[in-house]
Amino acid sequence: MPTVWITGGAGFIGSHLVRFFVYSHPDWRVVTVDALTYAGNLANLGEVLQKPNHVFSRIDIADAAAVETLWEQHPPDWILHLAAESHVDRSILSPLDFLHTNVSGTVTLLEIARKRWGSRKDVLFYQVSTDEVYGSLSQEGFFQEGSPYDPRSPYAASKAAADHFVRAYGHTYGLPYVISNCGNNYGPFQFPEKLIPLVLTHLMERRPIPVYGEGKNVRDWIYVEDHVRAIALLAEKGRRGHTYLIGAQNTRPNIEVVTLLCKLYDELTGHRDSESLITFVKDRPGHDFRYAIQPSPHLYELGWRPSVSFETGLRQTVEWYLTHTDWLDAVRTGAYRSFYEQQYGERLL
Ligand code: NAD
Ligand code: DAU
Repeated sequence: MPTVWITGGAGFIGSHLVRFFVYSHPDWRVVTVDALTYAGNLANLGEVLQKPNHVFSRIDIADAAAVETLWEQHPPDWILHLAAESHVDRSILSPLDFLHTNVSGTVTLLEIARKRWGSRKDVLFYQVSTDEVYGSLSQEGFFQEGSPYDPRSPYAASKAAADHFVRAYGHTYGLPYVISNCGNNYGPFQFPEKLIPLVLTHLMERRPIPVYGEGKNVRDWIYVEDHVRAIALLAEKGRRGHTYLIGAQNTRPNIEVVTLLCKLYDELTGHRDSESLITFVKDRPGHDFRYAIQPSPHLYELGWRPSVSFETGLRQTVEWYLTHTDWLDAVRTGAYRSFYEQQYGERLL
């Protein structure tokens, strides 16, 4: 039975990928490898935890001894690597956490994979990365294959470093790898520190909605399930040693996203005045202005298309958060509240 490790499988994107893989590949053993940090949550996996082809392992990917032990128990044929510190604002507050997981954690996995896999060519190290490694665009242009890396936040720098290590292992040791860089994901199970779920929690509690700067920064949004299908396809059929860009060609200024959320929220709940909660606050330091992705042509040749429009995906997302208040209450622990206070206390005074 082939085995795939999905690191970060209890996080937002990871949990969607684990679910997809467990159901679409019943002949594979799926091992979720996750430290369950503030962002990881077994509730994101639900019924998958009971499936006979799924195993959960709580380890820190930077702990070499723990990774070695897991390798003894469930040697992987593929590693789909998503475990990371993923929030830009937190990287500005505590960059060393990002060095630990995103850089040291990735290199720990690579090092053990290199030793254990040796010269095997039927294996795969798949690095799930971000468009933020390419820096910031002005009003024009796109990130495309071959665009130079120019990371500008501690988060982006840590992901760029990890991507470079993956390529270096491919070049130096012949490790078969694929990297994909994607834009802003949204959908169910996203931790409420990211823009869309944060806005929804503020709408539900009728609190001011913090929009950084003038709300003109542009992000390229994709529904999480579309990203997951692209990863699964590229893992199976993507060229080894290649870096792909994944995107739904859906760029929006933040203020447009927030206004759309307010309108949807009002329509679904009977409120009438949600837009009046929008509050412009002090900008994020070093805030990248615009991200826009030209998706890799090969991804289209393989048959991938985004299947969920932004309007449909947002509606599904709002409905999900409205009906999963227990999940929201459970993830907003004491640690979340102290981060929240540090991040928004002064901004929203
Ligand atoms: P997330 O923060 O929701 O989840 C991260 C997961 O990694 C959590 O389950 C956490 O417990 C786990 N983790 C963190 N440190 C760990 C460690 N040291 N050892 C083991 N597990 C650890 O993140 P996400 O939004 O689901 O992003 C997943 C991946 O996709 C990340 O690599 C991120 O850089 C990348 N990505 C995210 C987006 C996005 O919009 N969310 C876009 C492009 C790429
Ligand atoms: O582009 C891909 C990246 O998208 C991923 O690699 C990251 O893991 C993911 O977190 C996301 O990064 P962003 O910084 O773009 O996401 P965030 O949801 O934090 O912010 C989206 C935009 O909204 C950004 O321009 C900042 C703005 N924003 C965010 C928050 C949390 C606000 O205006 N107010 C807020 O309170």
